[in-house]
Amino acid sequence: MSEQKNIILIGFMGCGKTTCGKWIAENKPFDFIDTDQYIVDKEGRSINEIFDCDGEPYFRKLETMVLKELLESENTRQKVFSVGGGLPITNENRPLLKQLGYVVYLRTSIDELVKRLNQDTQRPLLAGGNVRDKIVRLMEQRKDIYEQVADKIIDTDGKDIKHIYEEITGDKWTKY
Ligand code: S3P
Repeated sequence: MSEQKNIILIGFMGCGKTTCGKWIAENKPFDFIDTDQYIVDKEGRSINEIFDCDGEPYFRKLETMVLKELLESENTRQKVFSVGGGLPITNENRPLLKQLGYVVYLRTSIDELVKRLNQDTQRPLLAGGNVRDKIVRLMEQRKDIYEQVADKIIDTDGKDIKHIYEEITGDKWTKY
């Protein structure tokens, strides 16, 4: 990965994109941008509210708009992006992601995702019904796409964040 390139973290809800992204950004140091937070700030309402009032297709349009805005922004360099779990699934977004930087897929097992997401109330796609079933169904639709768009795949189960940092950046963790 070139030193100048932005890093983009993709992966299923709960895979650790935001936590890892903030960690990398703090330690590189790079700026950190979370596309969900960007949308929430811009819209002045939560993801749940956006889904409830305007539906998923509207949210997906916002995601594409954000990517385009970020690409047009002159200072989009040396940044770490965490993007919503469904963002790479929109066809139009995948070439935009590649243009934006080095795409890293944080791959996490279903069991681990269920553990992390079982009590979640912030993610409209997991609301109501059995969380495991929902994760399995969505992952089935998404996993090949995540793998295809990624420049690098990192299996996160059982790995600590410093190890993930080293794998993504290629830098040795020196602050032990
Ligand atoms: C979604 C993932 C969420 C958020 C929205 C939809 C998805 O982001 O964008 O709830 O379709 O997987 P995280 O992956 O950051 O949870």
